[in-house]
Amino acid sequence: MNPTVPVLQVKHLRTYYRTRNGLSRAVDDISFDLRRGQTLALLGESGCGKSATALSVIRLVPKPAGWVVRSGDVLDGVPVTQGSEILFDNKDLLALPEAQMRPYRGSKITMIFQEPLTSLNPVYTVGDQLMEVVQLHQGLRGQAARQVALEMFKKVGIPSPEARLDEYPHQLSGGMRQRVMIAIALACKPDVLIADEPTTALDVTIQAQILDLLKDLQREFGMAVLLITHDLGVVAQMADEVAVMYAGKVVERGSVQQVFNHSRHPYTQGLFASLPGRQARGQKLCTIEGTVPESTNFPTGCRFNTRCPHRFAPCAGLEPLLLPQADGVQVACHLYTGVNAHV
Ligand SMILES: Nc1ncnc2c1ncn2[C@@H]1O[C@H](COP(=O)(O)OP(=O)(O)O)[C@@H](O)[C@H]1O
Ligand SMILES: [Mg+2]
Repeated sequence: MNPTVPVLQVKHLRTYYRTRNGLSRAVDDISFDLRRGQTLALLGESGCGKSATALSVIRLVPKPAGWVVRSGDVLDGVPVTQGSEILFDNKDLLALPEAQMRPYRGSKITMIFQEPLTSLNPVYTVGDQLMEVVQLHQGLRGQAARQVALEMFKKVGIPSPEARLDEYPHQLSGGMRQRVMIAIALACKPDVLIADEPTTALDVTIQAQILDLLKDLQREFGMAVLLITHDLGVVAQMADEVAVMYAGKVVERGSVQQVFNHSRHPYTQGLFASLPGRQARGQKLCTIEGTVPESTNFPTGCRFNTRCPHRFAPCAGLEPLLLPQADGVQVACHLYTGVNAHV
């Protein structure tokens, strides 16, 4: 693998669902790169398309309702010219037949979810589930597989690891289950780890421990992490870069330092303003007015215009492009596109 090339390049990703209420444009033309050892956070409120992005990367968008739009697909009677691409080590995963996708999913690219109980099988011990992955990817069996599983349990900080191997998922706490999931996800030394709200279901102290663990393991394993969260605190603690998503689009993208020191998109500014620490004591938590629009019915122009405190003439009619600013941060907002009020 070429270290100068990003390990994952997502280009013009569009993920749509057919729903009873019409076409849902869950992800609508987003692009990003992920480098080895780097953590990119996808940040946004619920319903912005973060999970749909993650599922697209490992090709688990639920069919037939959902699909990733590719070149040649026909949308509204018109063939798509610029389709989605998901390049892993320069190979387009979307072009692979399902059988050839298997060595990637769960091996080179692994994923952990918000609620580990739904991804762990209740009828097998957690040790058996980890050993199955070890057998599959490292070809080890019996005592040798158990030894590797034990090492992984130690690595993810599971106390009394030997005894825990023989327990069932329901016997473990939420934090321990998430540690098991991390052990399973890392057992095959993936190049890319996708973590979709990995600590959202956990209480605050356990959250911090799991994030610390992920950070340590990333340093040790050198993998790239795509971290999905609605929590600015998690981004601050974990990520190098952040892409702020709103209504299926990336609206701001830059290093965590840049975006936290000087957020430019009114949506990003709204996310910061709604942080509890930013209010005077006793004041009601200020949140962004309104709700994320339905993905079947986005407003025309800028999708945030219906909630935006800075809306002016062009915003409802013209969709702003994601454009680089002088310092390299990218923003999709007419306050920065140079479009004036008389369009
Ligand atoms: N299986 C599905 N069928 C139809 N619409 C879906 C499905 N999954 C997600 N969506 C729609 O896609 C949009 C983005 O969802 P999602 O990616 O889960 O958001 P997030 O992870 O940011 O909360 C939402 O509007 C949601 O209703
Ligand atoms: Mg989600």
